[in-house]
Amino acid sequence: MKTYNDLAIEIYPLCNFMFKDNGPSDGTLENLVKEIELQDPDKWEMKGKDVKHAFKRYMKSVNPIGYEAIEKKFDNTFYKTLDLIPPFVVLFVASGAVSHEEFVKVVLDAPNDAQIIPNFIPEDKFVTTLWAMYRDWKEFSEGYIPVGDLKDLGIPKLPNLTAEKKTTLDHLLSSFEVPKYSDIEKFIRTSAQTQTALAREVTTIKELSDKEVAKLRKETKELANAISRMTKELASKPFEDAKVVGDGTIPNGKIVMKNVGDVFPDLKKVEMQVPVWEWDGVHPDVPAIDPHYIFREELLVKALYAIISNQRMYLQGHTGAGKTTLIEQIAAHLNWPFTRINFDSEITRMDLIGRDTLQDGKSVFVDGMLPRAMSGPYICVFDELDFCRPDVSYVMQAALEGNGLNITEDGGRVVYPHEQFRMFGTGNTVGQGDEHGMYQGARPQSLAFLDRFTIWAKVDYLSDEERKSLVKRHFPVLAEEEINVIGKYTTEHLDAFEKAKVLQPISPRGMLAIARSVMFFNSIYPKDKKNMHRALTQTIVDRATEADAAVLKGLVDRVSKG
Ligand SMILES: Nc1ncnc2c1ncn2[C@@H]1O[C@H](COP(=O)(O)OP(=O)(O)OP(=O)(O)O)[C@@H](O)[C@H]1O
Ligand SMILES: [Mg+2]
Repeated sequence: MKTYNDLAIEIYPLCNFMFKDNGPSDGTLENLVKEIELQDPDKWEMKGKDVKHAFKRYMKSVNPIGYEAIEKKFDNTFYKTLDLIPPFVVLFVASGAVSHEEFVKVVLDAPNDAQIIPNFIPEDKFVTTLWAMYRDWKEFSEGYIPVGDLKDLGIPKLPNLTAEKKTTLDHLLSSFEVPKYSDIEKFIRTSAQTQTALAREVTTIKELSDKEVAKLRKETKELANAISRMTKELASKPFEDAKVVGDGTIPNGKIVMKNVGDVFPDLKKVEMQVPVWEWDGVHPDVPAIDPHYIFREELLVKALYAIISNQRMYLQGHTGAGKTTLIEQIAAHLNWPFTRINFDSEITRMDLIGRDTLQDGKSVFVDGMLPRAMSGPYICVFDELDFCRPDVSYVMQAALEGNGLNITEDGGRVVYPHEQFRMFGTGNTVGQGDEHGMYQGARPQSLAFLDRFTIWAKVDYLSDEERKSLVKRHFPVLAEEEINVIGKYTTEHLDAFEKAKVLQPISPRGMLAIARSVMFFNSIYPKDKKNMHRALTQTIVDRATEADAAVLKGLVDRVSKG
């Protein structure tokens, strides 16, 4: 076991210097050792202030030119400049590990505002150089041990110090009121461990997401298989006799089962039968097919499953993500009459259920939107259902049960849903209030109400690739470069929207409007580089609120510069 005396001798070059001119002892080694031998660390303490005074005098005597230069450069006293220097550097110079010329050079090379951080992580060239000196100080190193892979952090390997040397160094450093060597060591080791742990986490996440993707694929396949099994079972039942007899305003119709791939070419590989209406005339409520519409397989399969198994599906997603049009386009392909009820507006119970009106002096009850839709073979979208008022959602709950809607206002008449009536709900939220801070009208809905929906889907915005392909399908003559800029702009705009930096979203409709404007400007100002900027300004910036415009204008300027 070494005594403090031994340690004092070991670090003699430092101590000798520091106590020569100034300090708690009279500067002789014997007295220092005596003090140390009391083995009371408090007695051993010297203040950074004393050391700095001593160091200043030392520099002034050994290198007056360097001393003057440092004073001049920092427009300060040399003493104060030492506040910017890590104390261990002072120790190195004092011990002769670093020459005073080297010290002056490094300080003069340092940036004027060099702030030396106390935990000694190399931050700039100056500190890095000092670190290098530290490392090279062989007195303190007995071979280096590697700590993790610290190359990327720029942290040097730790010197392998004996426990006694660490104690000594700790003591010296704490006298400067800076972190001890053992703290630094702990810090560096923890950084290394954190880094290793992070690297491990990244690998785990990657493995997980690979697994997740595989799982999703498997689930989609299983779902499709289950549907296929079910449709085979069901095919003959609810759809076999499905017929509608025309009444002059609508034609006669019946359902035939078809291979899904023949109806939705995107699902060529899925084995499944879907019910398709055949009408002997034009049905006014069957929507037109949008030939450019992009179906996403997972959403499409889910929605078809909901239709086939007569379950209620709730689609949730940001505004303009494509919830309503997904169902509308499915209806279009299945030739299924389509209707929607928008709960976003101030819809009342009377609008929904119906009301008494005067006809020829007599009061007659006229059905509202809900019984009208329910009594036909409609695919009905209850849009923005999360805005639904409690009195209205109460009515809806009964309707969603599938047991019929009791119209008390019309003598308790019950309207039963048509066998081929299908319901979908959409909302920007999952029905539990506004989580995004963007949809203030969204109310928390009762769980009993939400429970009536048995299939849920989150609808995301189209991916970058899908967006570009949508523009290309609509405007095949646009240049690739222009399509890329429109795609990039839309991606960044959506990003700003999702982060609530702007309140105005951009839907595929908005994106296509930009493309259309570019085409227009290209036709009147051929080859003019400003056309993209013109189109974006006209479609986006000029309609934005002042606050949004400030953000969007920056985005438009940046993206349209190319
Ligand atoms: N997959 C897609 N392919 C082509 N166009 C799409 C697609 N998804 C959405 N669109 C277009 O985007 C626009 C907005 O879609 P839609 O109205 O369905 O969004 P939404 O999610 O119902 O929005 P909101 O919450 O505001 O009701 C429509 O013009 C639609 O044609
Ligand atoms: Mg909608």
